[in-house]
Amino acid sequence: MRTCVVTGSASGIGAATADRLRGAGHRVVGVDLHDADVTADLSDLAGRTAMVDAIADATGGVVDAVVACAGVMAEAPIAISVNYFGAVATLDGLRPLLARSDAPRAVTVSSIASLMASDPATVEACLAGDEEAACRHIAAAPTIAYMTSKAALARWVRRTAPTPEWAGEGIPLNAIAPGTVETPMTAELLSAPGGLEMTDTAVPMPCNGHARAQDLAPLLEFLVSPDNSHVTGQVVFIDGGAEAITRGDGIW
Ligand code: NAI
Repeated sequence: MRTCVVTGSASGIGAATADRLRGAGHRVVGVDLHDADVTADLSDLAGRTAMVDAIADATGGVVDAVVACAGVMAEAPIAISVNYFGAVATLDGLRPLLARSDAPRAVTVSSIASLMASDPATVEACLAGDEEAACRHIAAAPTIAYMTSKAALARWVRRTAPTPEWAGEGIPLNAIAPGTVETPMTAELLSAPGGLEMTDTAVPMPCNGHARAQDLAPLLEFLVSPDNSHVTGQVVFIDGGAEAITRGDGIW
Protein backbone atom coordinates (compact mmCIF):
# COMPACT_ATOMS: atom_id res chain seq x y z
CA MET A 1 0.00 0.00 0.00
CA ARG A 2 1.39 3.36 -1.07
CA THR A 3 0.46 6.79 0.25
CA CYS A 4 -0.65 8.95 -2.66
CA VAL A 5 -1.53 12.65 -2.62
CA VAL A 6 -4.00 13.75 -5.30
CA THR A 7 -4.89 17.43 -5.69
CA GLY A 8 -8.14 18.32 -7.40
CA SER A 9 -9.51 15.11 -5.90
CA ALA A 10 -13.13 16.32 -5.63
CA SER A 11 -13.88 16.31 -9.36
CA GLY A 12 -13.04 15.08 -12.83
CA ILE A 13 -9.59 13.66 -13.51
CA GLY A 14 -8.40 14.00 -9.90
CA ALA A 15 -11.48 12.19 -8.57
CA ALA A 16 -11.13 9.39 -11.13
CA THR A 17 -7.45 8.99 -10.29
CA ALA A 18 -8.11 8.96 -6.55
CA ASP A 19 -10.81 6.30 -7.10
CA ARG A 20 -8.46 4.17 -9.17
CA LEU A 21 -5.60 4.40 -6.67
CA ARG A 22 -7.94 3.57 -3.79
CA GLY A 23 -9.33 0.66 -5.80
CA ALA A 24 -5.79 -0.67 -6.19
CA GLY A 25 -5.45 -0.66 -2.40
CA HIS A 26 -3.45 2.51 -1.91
CA ARG A 27 -4.07 5.18 0.66
CA VAL A 28 -5.13 8.45 -1.01
CA VAL A 29 -4.95 11.83 0.65
CA GLY A 30 -7.14 14.07 -1.45
CA VAL A 31 -6.67 17.83 -1.60
CA ASP A 32 -9.29 20.25 -2.89
CA LEU A 33 -11.30 23.35 -2.11
CA HIS A 34 -14.09 21.15 -0.76
CA ASP A 35 -15.00 17.48 -0.21
CA ALA A 36 -11.40 16.44 0.44
CA ASP A 37 -9.20 14.97 3.17
CA VAL A 38 -7.24 18.22 3.11
CA THR A 39 -9.19 21.35 2.31
CA ALA A 40 -6.84 23.93 0.83
CA ASP A 41 -6.88 26.76 -1.68
CA LEU A 42 -3.84 26.35 -3.90
CA SER A 43 -4.28 29.77 -5.48
CA ASP A 44 -2.28 31.51 -2.78
CA LEU A 45 0.81 31.06 -0.67
CA ALA A 46 -1.05 30.59 2.63
CA GLY A 47 -3.19 27.78 1.19
CA ARG A 48 -0.20 26.05 -0.38
CA THR A 49 1.79 26.19 2.86
CA ALA A 50 -1.17 24.94 4.89
CA MET A 51 -1.60 22.07 2.41
CA VAL A 52 2.00 20.89 2.78
CA ASP A 53 1.76 21.11 6.59
CA ALA A 54 -1.51 19.17 6.61
CA ILE A 55 -0.11 16.46 4.34
CA ALA A 56 2.97 16.12 6.54
CA ASP A 57 0.69 15.67 9.58
CA ALA A 58 -1.62 13.22 7.82
CA THR A 59 1.15 11.02 6.42
CA GLY A 60 3.79 11.08 9.13
CA GLY A 61 6.10 12.84 6.70
CA VAL A 62 6.37 10.14 4.02
CA VAL A 63 4.58 10.32 0.68
CA ASP A 64 5.07 7.77 -2.12
CA ALA A 65 3.26 9.51 -4.95
CA VAL A 66 1.97 12.96 -5.84
CA VAL A 67 -0.60 13.64 -8.56
CA ALA A 68 -0.85 17.43 -8.90
CA CYS A 69 -4.09 17.69 -10.82
CA ALA A 70 -5.97 20.71 -9.43
CA GLY A 71 -6.65 23.35 -12.03
CA VAL A 72 -9.05 25.97 -13.32
CA MET A 73 -10.02 27.04 -16.82
CA ALA A 74 -10.18 30.82 -16.60
CA GLU A 75 -9.27 33.80 -18.72
CA ALA A 76 -7.67 35.53 -15.75
CA PRO A 77 -4.52 35.49 -13.60
CA ILE A 78 -6.10 32.86 -11.31
CA ALA A 79 -5.26 30.33 -14.03
CA ILE A 80 -1.58 31.12 -13.58
CA SER A 81 -1.83 31.04 -9.78
CA VAL A 82 -3.59 27.68 -9.56
CA ASN A 83 -2.41 25.81 -12.66
CA TYR A 84 1.25 26.83 -12.49
CA PHE A 85 2.15 28.15 -9.05
CA GLY A 86 -0.28 25.85 -7.21
CA ALA A 87 1.02 22.78 -9.03
CA VAL A 88 4.69 23.71 -8.65
CA ALA A 89 4.21 24.51 -4.95
CA THR A 90 2.53 21.12 -4.49
CA LEU A 91 5.37 19.26 -6.16
CA ASP A 92 8.20 21.29 -4.64
CA GLY A 93 6.56 21.43 -1.22
CA LEU A 94 5.97 17.67 -1.05
CA ARG A 95 9.35 16.71 -2.56
CA PRO A 96 11.05 16.33 0.85
CA LEU A 97 8.24 13.92 1.86
CA LEU A 98 8.65 12.01 -1.41
CA ALA A 99 12.39 11.75 -0.83
CA ARG A 100 11.67 9.56 2.23
CA SER A 101 9.81 6.97 0.14
CA ASP A 102 11.43 3.83 -1.25
CA ALA A 103 9.84 4.46 -4.66
CA PRO A 104 8.82 8.11 -4.96
CA ARG A 105 7.00 9.35 -8.09
CA ALA A 106 5.29 12.57 -9.14
CA VAL A 107 3.13 13.73 -12.01
CA THR A 108 1.17 16.82 -12.94
CA VAL A 109 -1.41 17.68 -15.60
CA SER A 110 -0.49 20.01 -18.44
CA SER A 111 -2.68 20.07 -21.57
CA ILE A 112 -2.82 20.02 -25.35
CA ALA A 113 -3.49 23.73 -24.74
CA SER A 114 0.22 24.05 -23.89
CA LEU A 115 0.88 23.95 -27.66
CA MET A 116 -1.45 26.87 -28.42
CA ALA A 117 -0.86 30.60 -28.03
CA SER A 118 1.02 31.57 -24.90
CA ASP A 119 2.57 34.71 -23.50
CA PRO A 120 6.39 34.41 -23.38
CA ALA A 121 6.87 37.08 -20.69
CA THR A 122 4.42 35.28 -18.41
CA VAL A 123 6.10 31.94 -19.03
CA GLU A 124 9.50 33.41 -18.18
CA ALA A 125 8.13 35.00 -14.99
CA CYS A 126 6.59 31.66 -14.02
CA LEU A 127 9.85 29.81 -14.56
CA ALA A 128 11.65 32.52 -12.55
CA GLY A 129 9.20 31.87 -9.69
CA ASP A 130 7.85 35.43 -9.79
CA GLU A 131 4.09 35.05 -9.32
CA GLU A 132 3.41 38.76 -8.98
CA ALA A 133 5.11 39.51 -12.32
CA ALA A 134 3.50 36.50 -14.03
CA CYS A 135 0.02 37.63 -12.96
CA ARG A 136 0.77 41.20 -14.03
CA HIS A 137 1.92 40.08 -17.49
CA ILE A 138 -1.04 37.77 -18.09
CA ALA A 139 -3.51 40.44 -16.98
CA ALA A 140 -2.64 42.16 -20.28
CA ALA A 141 -3.47 39.00 -22.26
CA PRO A 142 -6.07 37.18 -20.15
CA THR A 143 -7.62 35.19 -23.01
CA ILE A 144 -4.47 33.05 -23.19
CA ALA A 145 -4.02 32.65 -19.42
CA TYR A 146 -4.99 28.96 -19.35
CA MET A 147 -2.82 28.01 -22.32
CA THR A 148 0.10 29.99 -20.93
CA SER A 149 -0.20 28.30 -17.53
CA LYS A 150 -0.04 24.87 -19.14
CA ALA A 151 2.92 25.79 -21.37
CA ALA A 152 4.84 27.08 -18.36
CA LEU A 153 4.03 23.94 -16.38
CA ALA A 154 5.27 21.66 -19.18
CA ARG A 155 8.50 23.63 -19.40
CA TRP A 156 8.97 23.50 -15.63
CA VAL A 157 8.66 19.71 -15.71
CA ARG A 158 11.17 19.46 -18.56
CA ARG A 159 13.79 21.56 -16.79
CA THR A 160 13.14 20.31 -13.25
CA ALA A 161 12.93 16.55 -13.73
CA PRO A 162 16.63 16.00 -14.59
CA THR A 163 17.95 18.05 -11.64
CA PRO A 164 19.74 16.62 -8.58
CA GLU A 165 16.68 17.39 -6.41
CA TRP A 166 14.46 15.11 -8.52
CA ALA A 167 16.43 12.75 -10.78
CA GLY A 168 19.29 12.71 -8.30
CA GLU A 169 16.90 11.59 -5.56
CA GLY A 170 15.42 8.90 -7.79
CA ILE A 171 12.07 10.67 -8.25
CA PRO A 172 10.59 10.43 -11.76
CA LEU A 173 8.67 13.66 -12.50
CA ASN A 174 6.37 13.89 -15.49
CA ALA A 175 3.31 15.61 -16.89
CA ILE A 176 0.43 14.29 -18.88
CA ALA A 177 -1.15 16.48 -21.56
CA PRO A 178 -4.78 15.53 -22.19
CA GLY A 179 -6.83 16.54 -25.18
CA THR A 180 -10.52 17.19 -24.50
CA VAL A 181 -11.81 15.37 -21.44
CA GLU A 182 -15.50 15.42 -20.54
CA THR A 183 -15.47 16.72 -16.97
CA PRO A 184 -17.21 19.57 -15.14
CA MET A 185 -14.38 21.80 -16.41
CA THR A 186 -15.37 21.39 -20.05
CA ALA A 187 -19.14 20.83 -19.68
CA GLU A 188 -20.10 24.46 -20.24
CA LEU A 189 -17.77 24.91 -23.20
CA LEU A 190 -18.91 21.75 -24.94
CA SER A 191 -22.62 22.54 -24.50
CA ALA A 192 -22.39 26.21 -25.56
CA PRO A 193 -23.58 27.07 -29.07
CA GLY A 194 -20.68 26.30 -31.42
CA GLY A 195 -18.52 25.18 -28.52
CA LEU A 196 -18.25 21.56 -29.58
CA GLU A 197 -17.30 22.41 -33.17
CA MET A 198 -14.77 25.02 -32.05
CA THR A 199 -13.19 22.63 -29.56
CA ASP A 200 -13.00 19.73 -32.00
CA THR A 201 -11.46 21.95 -34.68
CA ALA A 202 -8.76 23.17 -32.27
CA VAL A 203 -8.25 19.72 -30.71
CA PRO A 204 -8.96 16.99 -33.27
CA MET A 205 -9.21 13.56 -31.61
CA PRO A 206 -9.59 10.95 -34.37
CA CYS A 207 -8.67 8.07 -32.05
CA ASN A 208 -11.69 7.36 -29.83
CA GLY A 209 -12.91 10.98 -29.54
CA HIS A 210 -13.21 12.89 -26.30
CA ALA A 211 -11.83 11.13 -23.25
CA ARG A 212 -13.59 10.50 -19.96
CA ALA A 213 -11.76 11.20 -16.71
CA GLN A 214 -11.41 7.47 -16.04
CA ASP A 215 -9.58 7.03 -19.36
CA LEU A 216 -6.70 9.11 -18.01
CA ALA A 217 -6.41 7.51 -14.57
CA PRO A 218 -4.48 4.39 -15.73
CA LEU A 219 -1.71 6.51 -17.25
CA LEU A 220 -1.43 8.64 -14.12
CA GLU A 221 -1.46 5.47 -12.03
CA PHE A 222 1.41 4.01 -14.06
CA LEU A 223 3.51 7.16 -13.97
CA VAL A 224 3.37 7.22 -10.14
CA SER A 225 3.83 3.47 -9.72
CA PRO A 226 7.09 1.71 -8.83
CA ASP A 227 6.88 0.15 -12.33
CA ASN A 228 7.84 3.54 -13.73
CA SER A 229 11.54 3.68 -13.00
CA HIS A 230 12.86 5.58 -16.03
CA VAL A 231 10.15 7.70 -17.63
CA THR A 232 10.96 11.21 -16.40
CA GLY A 233 10.88 14.75 -17.73
CA GLN A 234 8.20 13.75 -20.23
CA VAL A 235 5.00 15.46 -21.23
CA VAL A 236 2.91 12.47 -22.26
CA PHE A 237 0.08 13.44 -24.61
CA ILE A 238 -3.11 11.47 -24.03
CA ASP A 239 -5.19 13.16 -26.65
CA GLY A 240 -6.60 10.81 -29.28
CA GLY A 241 -4.02 11.99 -31.83
CA ALA A 242 -4.36 15.78 -31.45
CA GLU A 243 -0.67 16.43 -30.77
CA ALA A 244 0.46 14.20 -33.64
CA ILE A 245 -1.84 16.10 -36.00
CA THR A 246 -0.90 19.51 -34.63
CA ARG A 247 2.88 19.09 -34.54
CA GLY A 248 3.35 16.42 -37.19
CA ASP A 249 6.58 14.47 -37.56
CA GLY A 250 8.88 17.47 -38.01
CA ILE A 251 9.68 17.77 -34.31
CA TRP A 252 12.19 14.87 -34.57
P1 NAI B 1 -12.52 19.71 -12.77
O1 NAI B 1 -13.00 21.10 -12.77
O2 NAI B 1 -13.47 18.60 -12.90
O3 NAI B 1 -11.61 19.43 -11.47
C1 NAI B 1 -10.65 20.35 -11.03
C2 NAI B 1 -10.57 20.28 -9.52
O4 NAI B 1 -9.55 21.21 -9.10
C3 NAI B 1 -11.88 20.68 -8.82
O5 NAI B 1 -12.28 19.72 -7.87
C4 NAI B 1 -11.54 22.00 -8.18
O6 NAI B 1 -12.26 22.27 -6.98
C5 NAI B 1 -10.04 21.87 -7.94
N1 NAI B 1 -9.45 23.19 -7.77
C6 NAI B 1 -9.64 24.27 -8.56
N2 NAI B 1 -9.05 25.35 -8.04
C7 NAI B 1 -8.45 24.94 -6.89
C8 NAI B 1 -7.70 25.60 -5.90
N3 NAI B 1 -7.47 26.92 -5.95
N4 NAI B 1 -7.22 24.89 -4.86
C9 NAI B 1 -7.49 23.55 -4.77
N5 NAI B 1 -8.21 22.86 -5.68
C10 NAI B 1 -8.70 23.57 -6.72
O7 NAI B 1 -11.45 19.66 -13.96
P2 NAI B 1 -10.69 18.45 -14.68
O8 NAI B 1 -11.12 18.44 -16.07
O9 NAI B 1 -10.74 17.23 -13.88
O10 NAI B 1 -9.20 19.04 -14.68
C11 NAI B 1 -8.14 18.46 -13.92
C12 NAI B 1 -6.83 18.95 -14.50
O11 NAI B 1 -6.73 18.52 -15.85
C13 NAI B 1 -6.73 20.48 -14.53
O12 NAI B 1 -5.40 20.85 -14.21
C14 NAI B 1 -7.04 20.80 -15.98
O13 NAI B 1 -6.48 22.02 -16.38
C15 NAI B 1 -6.42 19.62 -16.68
N6 NAI B 1 -6.91 19.35 -18.01
C16 NAI B 1 -8.26 19.13 -18.23
C17 NAI B 1 -8.71 18.90 -19.51
C18 NAI B 1 -10.14 18.67 -19.83
O14 NAI B 1 -10.49 18.64 -21.03
N7 NAI B 1 -11.02 18.51 -18.85
C19 NAI B 1 -7.78 18.89 -20.65
C20 NAI B 1 -6.41 19.13 -20.30
C21 NAI B 1 -6.00 19.34 -19.03
